[in-house]
Amino acid sequence: MSDAAPIIDIRGLNKAFAARDGNPVVMALDNINLVQHEGEFLCIMGPSGCGKSTLLNILAGFDTADSGACLFRQQPVRAAGPDRGVVFQEYALFPWMTVRRNVVFAMQAAGKWGSAQAQSTVDEILERMGLLAFQSTLPKNLSGGMRQRLAIARILAIDSPVMLMDEPFGALDSLTRTKLQQDLIRVWSGTRKTVTFVTHSAEEAIYLADRIIVMTPRPGRIVNELRVTLPRPRDPTSADFNALKREVLASIGT
Ligand SMILES: Nc1ncnc2c1ncn2[C@@H]1O[C@H](COP(=O)(O)OP(=O)(O)OP(=O)(O)O)[C@@H](O)[C@H]1O
Ligand SMILES: [Mg+2]
Repeated sequence: MSDAAPIIDIRGLNKAFAARDGNPVVMALDNINLVQHEGEFLCIMGPSGCGKSTLLNILAGFDTADSGACLFRQQPVRAAGPDRGVVFQEYALFPWMTVRRNVVFAMQAAGKWGSAQAQSTVDEILERMGLLAFQSTLPKNLSGGMRQRLAIARILAIDSPVMLMDEPFGALDSLTRTKLQQDLIRVWSGTRKTVTFVTHSAEEAIYLADRIIVMTPRPGRIVNELRVTLPRPRDPTSADFNALKREVLASIGT
């Protein structure tokens, strides 16, 4: 573990949603404490409704907590920013822009455009994400996996040190999902960005993470934390992998 200050430092975070439609108040996050160091691949795993998206949205600056601290580089998170790139489950691309234009626009919006190398940076990133041959294509003519790769390409282009990912592969078929998991690990190994990745799949978390935070719902709490030291690329059919999977699932009572 690094001695450096953590890049993400969450302390005593609480968040409730008001009662509505005859439903009681939902304690979405109950005393969440979480520290993440630079370069770590962290998975937040748990069943539907345990507060994963709520936590990620607070980190991204899209929502605020009721109490507690959410620090990014030791400063309270107040708003969204290019230092925390976000990939959602549903693709959030500009449908009227080509693949290349989506990447260039993100760079312009983040103030990363205009250098002599900008065009070659786009080429390099599109190549890395397997999209160079599709640079003039509109998102509607891409497959779901390609759209998610484009969403990742945009974050790489603006060079966000942190990637916040909320079930980014949840809508994909299992073969495409496996391929994108491999792609993501390849990108992460090459860049050592800090990744905070939300999933409800124990298998996905164990395949990807250095460390897994397991949450349970109502109230949304952290109930387990596991370090995954299996060498990469990981084999989901191995005995060690399955032993970890049993432990993760047991901690959420399944
Ligand atoms: N805007 C909102 N208003 C009221 N309740 C909400 C709101 N957003 C989330 N909740 C409630 O807070 C709890 C946590 O929701 P959250 O979306 O964070 O869960 P999640 O772990 O991301 O679930 P999923 O795996 O289904 O995406 C849920 O019980 C949900 O109903
Ligand atoms: Mg969610």
